[in-house]
Amino acid sequence: MTMLIDRIPDLTAEQIARVRQPLKNAYTLPPQAYLSEDVYAQEETEIMRKSWLPLARVDQIAEPGQYISLDLFGQPVMVVHGTDGEFRVMSRVCLHRAAPIAEGDGKRKLFTCPYHAWSYDTTGQLIRAPLMDGAEGFAEKDCKLPQIKTELWNGFIMANLDLDAPSFAPQVADYASYFEKYKLEEMVVVKTLEFDSPWNWKVLVENFMEAYHHIATHAQSLESLFHARDSKVPDNSGPWSILHMPSAHEEVAPGLPPIEGLEPWQERDLFATVMFPHFLLAFQGTGVAWYQVFPQAADRMLLKIHLLSPKSHLALDGFGEAAEGNAALVSVVHHEDIDANDKVWEGLKAPLTKQGRLSPLEKSIWQLNQWWLEKMNAPAE
Ligand code: FES
Ligand SMILES: [Fe+2]
Repeated sequence: MTMLIDRIPDLTAEQIARVRQPLKNAYTLPPQAYLSEDVYAQEETEIMRKSWLPLARVDQIAEPGQYISLDLFGQPVMVVHGTDGEFRVMSRVCLHRAAPIAEGDGKRKLFTCPYHAWSYDTTGQLIRAPLMDGAEGFAEKDCKLPQIKTELWNGFIMANLDLDAPSFAPQVADYASYFEKYKLEEMVVVKTLEFDSPWNWKVLVENFMEAYHHIATHAQSLESLFHARDSKVPDNSGPWSILHMPSAHEEVAPGLPPIEGLEPWQERDLFATVMFPHFLLAFQGTGVAWYQVFPQAADRMLLKIHLLSPKSHLALDGFGEAAEGNAALVSVVHHEDIDANDKVWEGLKAPLTKQGRLSPLEKSIWQLNQWWLEKMNAPAE
């Protein structure tokens, strides 16, 4: 008998049970987990609004007064480097009659609302509200833009819409220990590629997190460098997953110089990692690619691929050219993935599509699925 589990809309108990199986018996999430607007609405409530999300790098707003505007699940926010040196994330909706006080990015000492010119400082404190004499009991000093919980982690400005959320760093301490030698905090964004992607966010994350598809999707690119069959995923001890892709070659590929202090195997190998739900970092011997995911709806997400290098490498001879070469390679590989994801998205919509069996090489997807079910409040067996 088919029974709907009402805590995850549109998914049946049988479908959930197949996802919960040990990896060697496990199935993918059912198509409705990707397609359903009700599932997406529940993801927003149960996952996105309670998770730590990476909003910016400190090097993207390195100077006091610099800011970046974003939209977080219906909440317009800005990430601000305060003139006092602090990094904050706050609402950018005016406290008067709700006009946005900032758009895009830039550098300001004051944020002045374009509607009636209320002015806020870089901490979100209202400094001046013109022509408000006679508004009884009103005082600028009592007005501050709502602040969002923020944490700095390895050069990333993280934010969580849940004010009661536990701190991020302890949850990913074991994860971070894998990558200490890459010195993430000393890196800077050197190039950003942007994509508007017509798929559910999990289609991208799953594609990012397995090397099984190298044998077909990347047969002409990645497979000869990182064989699908050699990839491995350690057990995890928290809300994260690590895919290790050992290099097929002994020598380091030409191009950007390796990060100083890495072990020789770290200079050669590739790691694709996720801190759930969708903080994606790929570690190479030469730098890091940060796939910044912005889910928009069940069937759409925006993606920014930021390429990071150690700050000390920027001044090296030939760095600019090598960085462009790396960006071109990332773009080629991502276009191969776009093609695969487009096809998967069409297939998921087909009436006869059902859950498929996972390969043991897709352990990262299995790890994410177990976490997803727990967060979406599916009852345990
Ligand atoms: S809405 Fe911002 S000053 Fe009126
Ligand atoms: Fe891929």
